[in-house]
Amino acid sequence: MSATARKTAPLPDDIRARKGGTPIVSLTAYTTPMAELMDAHCDFVLVGDSVGMVLHGLPSTIGVTMEMMILHGQAVKRGLRQAMMVVDMPFGSYEESPQQAFRNAARIMSETGAGAVKLEGGQGMAETIAFLVARGIPVMAHIGLTPQSINTLGGYKVQGRGAAGTQLMADAQAVAEAGAFAVVLEKVPQTLADRITADVPIPTIGIGASAGCDGQVLVVDDMLGLFTKFKPKFVKRYANLGEQAEAAVAAYAEEVRTRAFPAVDHVFADAVPEAKS
Ligand code: KIV
Repeated sequence: MSATARKTAPLPDDIRARKGGTPIVSLTAYTTPMAELMDAHCDFVLVGDSVGMVLHGLPSTIGVTMEMMILHGQAVKRGLRQAMMVVDMPFGSYEESPQQAFRNAARIMSETGAGAVKLEGGQGMAETIAFLVARGIPVMAHIGLTPQSINTLGGYKVQGRGAAGTQLMADAQAVAEAGAFAVVLEKVPQTLADRITADVPIPTIGIGASAGCDGQVLVVDDMLGLFTKFKPKFVKRYANLGEQAEAAVAAYAEEVRTRAFPAVDHVFADAVPEAKS
């Protein structure tokens, strides 16, 4: 079903059932107004930990906290009627043990109203994913470039080239077997993304992967041209709102300095004008 024809948010199982079907549409959101804009168009909205870089000016996602994810999750939820919300588990909130992951995932679910959480990692996180799913927490996995691990991955490099592709395939199989309802594939070669999509039974959500994935996700500020500090190759800009916003601010500043703003339309008379009969 298309997102526009839907009346209620899909469940993780509905997303799982879209394997091999009409591509699943997703964007990140961090605020209520942005969530409202995309609600009718997206199957799920991701409150990504990219919020740290995009809205808070952090150098990476590593400094993102549970409090930030919960606050932005609550804001996004207020803007959604039809799309499911997935909230990222931040760095340090789930890696220690399945029990730690459960405590924090349960907090995210209960305090934000999320339909699912997302966490980064493949085989190494399979036990944790199974632990969460068995306790009622739907999990979206995230493999390939996992930005919370840039310090061990050596930066924002393409993952899975050559022999490393075997490990990535094993990661995808492991998260699917553990019970993840979908898996994000970030920055992996197109042919590998296509092979993983063909071989794993759950939907693959590509970002810098392949049009053959079962769905796509982008960071909304990237695709709107609002976040322009850098532009990964996989980002397509559908608008240049950053440039437009700066031009609008410059025009406002000029009009304030020349007293062209406020004009007569923006100020109030002493007396209320009489109503025309
Ligand atoms: O944090 C994020 O925005 C993500 C991406 C997959 C878009 O995890």
